[in-house]
Amino acid sequence: MYPHRKWLTTLIVLMTLTACGGGSGDDDDDDDHDIGPGVSPLSGTHRVLAFNDLGMHCADLDYSTFVILPPYNVIHSQVIERGAPPRILDSTQVDVDYRAVADGGGSINSTSQNQAGSVDKTNFWAINPATGNSFVSDLFGLDPPPDEGLLFGQSMPGILDPYNANDAQAFNHYDADKKWFAADGVPILPIDDSGQLNAYPLMRVSASLPGSSDTLASLDVVLPVASEADCQNCHAAGEIAAPLDSSIDFLLPDDINDPNSVLQAAKSNILMLHDAEHGTDLVNATPVLCAGCHYSAALDLTGTGPTGQQLLLDSMSRVMHDHHGRLTDPDTAEPLFPADGSLEETCYQCHPGKVTQCLRGAMGAAGISCQDCHGSMLAVGGDERRPWLDEPRCESCHTGDANSHLGDSLRLTQAWDDAIDSATPRLASNRRFAENSATLYRNSLGHGGVACEGCHGSTHAIWPNPLASANDNLAAIQLQGHAGTLSDCGSCHTSLPLTLDGPHGMHNVNSRGWNLEHEDFYEDNPSACRSCHGLNLEGTVLSMTAADRTYLRDDDDDDETLFVAKGTEVSCSLCHDKP
Ligand code: HEC
Ligand code: HEC
Ligand code: HEC
Ligand code: HEC
Ligand code: HEC
Ligand code: HEC
Ligand code: HEC
Ligand code: HEC
Ligand code: HEC
Repeated sequence: MYPHRKWLTTLIVLMTLTACGGGSGDDDDDDDHDIGPGVSPLSGTHRVLAFNDLGMHCADLDYSTFVILPPYNVIHSQVIERGAPPRILDSTQVDVDYRAVADGGGSINSTSQNQAGSVDKTNFWAINPATGNSFVSDLFGLDPPPDEGLLFGQSMPGILDPYNANDAQAFNHYDADKKWFAADGVPILPIDDSGQLNAYPLMRVSASLPGSSDTLASLDVVLPVASEADCQNCHAAGEIAAPLDSSIDFLLPDDINDPNSVLQAAKSNILMLHDAEHGTDLVNATPVLCAGCHYSAALDLTGTGPTGQQLLLDSMSRVMHDHHGRLTDPDTAEPLFPADGSLEETCYQCHPGKVTQCLRGAMGAAGISCQDCHGSMLAVGGDERRPWLDEPRCESCHTGDANSHLGDSLRLTQAWDDAIDSATPRLASNRRFAENSATLYRNSLGHGGVACEGCHGSTHAIWPNPLASANDNLAAIQLQGHAGTLSDCGSCHTSLPLTLDGPHGMHNVNSRGWNLEHEDFYEDNPSACRSCHGLNLEGTVLSMTAADRTYLRDDDDDDETLFVAKGTEVSCSLCHDKP
């Protein structure tokens, strides 16, 4: 029997040790990450909001055997002119670009090219000796130059002179419906310019007037990316999916101490297994794009839908989740991926999680698991489900307010009512916190046309994030001076009348005016206040302070100030008797 567990441990230790980033020798003027790109949160004429669409992108590093996903990151950005009211600008009014910036640990990721003899990032653009073409061209029929991504020409900032250049790259597309700029397909990988793993590299997104090089505003955003699909846990020779006594002649790695060699052998074993089971000849067709035969919407960049073989076969999501979800452990006859198993036993077997935290953010930190939102392997692989489209929703757990909501709590901890093996996302009837109908969170717009992700961060990294991925919090800190949901109205509004028309029906925040003069609003509509402050006005999670605050208890001259700590559920009786 192979000493496999040992490699695994070695691999994890190695990755953990390197995941904290490291010095990168970046010596330009970007070391101001504590305060951000130089603008005090509540001043400045403009705001840049920028956000990655998914919260985690997966990308293979090696393209010679088979490929699940290429390097393909997406940044969306909205530019707001501060004012009364603020205005979201379009592509005739402003230009937006991005370039790499060092994080607090000095890690910077400006290029995906290799540095001869020292940094090995990927062979995506390298020449396949067997065909004389680049791997990317063999796989995708497109032949971008090194550092340029698929289809839309979006490039890494180091493209012109890797390891020296860090040239701003324009966003190639403006989406008039969403009022956002899109950089589709930035080919970033989780290895920084000093060769260290970093799944949370930063890009600085900047806005300027067309034709001008003066920056109006900028924001540092994470382009999360991971390559941690641990197929080798089970498909390395000697493991459960590649037993040494099999009729298939599974490959042993050239060097069991080299994680890459172990992974390569495991990938070949997967092809051999697939060929043996299904009469395919993938072993002789490398590099293989799994999605060439099993449709994946993530790779259907032009939105054509399934074609050719894909029409006859199940989708990539369905074959992977359903097939693995039905396997049992031959020794125990128990399911190999138990429906209610721990993340390590289930989703984190393939999704980046043991080292990289693809699930982080507010819900991850609260201990909510993939299955609480997505259901089991069989649910994700379900026959009726449309992969990449039928996903859980915020409204599935944030089902309303204190006046009306589903279940027994304002924030439920499971997104579905049926069974874990089907997990149909619950829909709310009180839509105060809901996505746009029939639209994913990442494509929904909220208050004033601002994207949900602009105020909350990316899907699996909803602000605030735990410290392990502190880079994710930088944008919120730069926008309002503290981590967490963007709630400070003054970040965008230069002045604002007293109102209940803020995001989700919110009133002015951190405002003396509201503190002293909310009486009429209560008298006009008491139930509006109860929706967040609670039916008995004692405070709820929806009336929690977003930062430490100093309020006034009354409007006398001798101002009696009251310190209220961040996270306090504000009740009316903090200051006076219940009205
Ligand atoms: C927890 C263990 C485990 C992990 C992790 C795992 N697999 Fe598997 N996989 C299996 C087992 C067990 C089989 C069935 C082996 C057999 O039929 O002999 C299997 C079968 C397969 C098959 C063959 C399907 C068929 O029709 O027979 C493919 C293809 C496959 N896995 C791909 C992958 C890929 C790609 C990854 C990583 C993204 C992966 N697996 C990760 C355990 C695992
Ligand atoms: C040349 C086309 C082709 C390619 C490329 C291909 N497959 Fe398949 N795959 C098939 C066929 C055909 C089947 C059998 C389908 C059936 O029996 O309905 C299959 C079945 C599977 C199954 C088992 C599905 C089940 O429900 O039992 C898995 C898992 C799978 N493929 C994974 C992969 C992975 C991972 C890759 C990339 C390494 C891949 N396939 C690449 C054609 C392909
Ligand atoms: C055996 C490997 C494997 C395991 C285990 C696994 N996944 Fe996946 N998952 C994949 C692959 C490969 C893809 C990419 C599919 C594609 O490209 O369409 C994927 C994609 C997804 C997607 C996006 C596509 C879709 O169907 O909407 C979701 C959601 C997802 N996985 C959820 C889960 C959850 C939840 C678990 C644990 C219950 C899990 N996965 C366990 C391999 C796995
Ligand atoms: C708190 C709920 C929640 C948890 C927990 C959660 N997800 Fe998701 N997931 C979502 C939502 C919501 C979407 C759809 C977001 C969108 O694209 O707008 C989604 C979508 C996805 C997608 C498709 C890509 C995307 O972002 O749209 C993948 C892959 C995925 N989840 C995997 C996972 C895995 C793996 C885990 C556990 C490590 C997990 N999710 C945990 C809510 C959750
Ligand atoms: C599975 C149920 C579930 C889903 C789905 C869900 N949430 Fe949550 N959410 C919770 C729970 C429970 C909490 C409270 C966490 C805690 O106690 O720290 C929470 C807390 C929050 C908070 C407060 C964070 C803070 O500490 O200030 C925000 C904001 C939030 N969620 C936004 C979202 C968004 C946006 C989505 C959709 C992308 C979403 N949630 C999807 C259950 C969920
Ligand atoms: C302009 C900023 C802004 C935008 C845009 C925005 N939100 Fe919010 N969101 C907030 C604020 C502020 C809160 C805190 C409200 C509170 O504490 O009562 C919040 C709270 C939430 C919560 C958590 C409620 C809880 O339990 O604490 C969810 C879920 C949510 N928003 C979803 C969304 C969705 C979905 C969209 C897009 C359709 C969106 N938000 C757009 C600012 C925004
Ligand atoms: C991320 C930027 C942003 C934040 C933060 C924000 N708003 Fe707005 N707000 C906008 C935009 C953009 C509009 C749309 C203006 C228009 O329609 O022309 C708007 C419109 C409004 C309007 C209607 C127009 C007006 O000015 O009277 C009100 C009222 C309002 N916001 C209140 C609030 C309150 C209260 C908060 C804080 C709780 C808040 N907003 C936070 C961007 C923001
Ligand atoms: C959408 C949710 C929401 C609604 C609706 C709401 N509140 Fe609040 N309220 C909050 C939150 C959240 C805070 C804490 C804000 C902070 O300081 O971060 C708060 C704080 C307050 C404060 C103390 C802080 C300050 O700025 O003065 C008063 C007073 C107040 N609310 C009164 C009211 C009254 C009166 C109503 C009804 C007219 C009302 N609220 C409706 C969420 C809400
Ligand atoms: C941060 C302190 C603070 C909080 C919290 C607060 N108020 Fe007030 N409230 C005041 C001040 C200051 C006045 C101005 C008049 C005064 O000095 O008594 C006032 C006056 C009022 C009045 C008119 C005078 C009266 O007592 O009838 C009403 C009604 C009122 N508040 C409703 C509410 C409601 C409803 C809430 C909770 C949703 C609330 N207030 C929370 C500070 C607060």
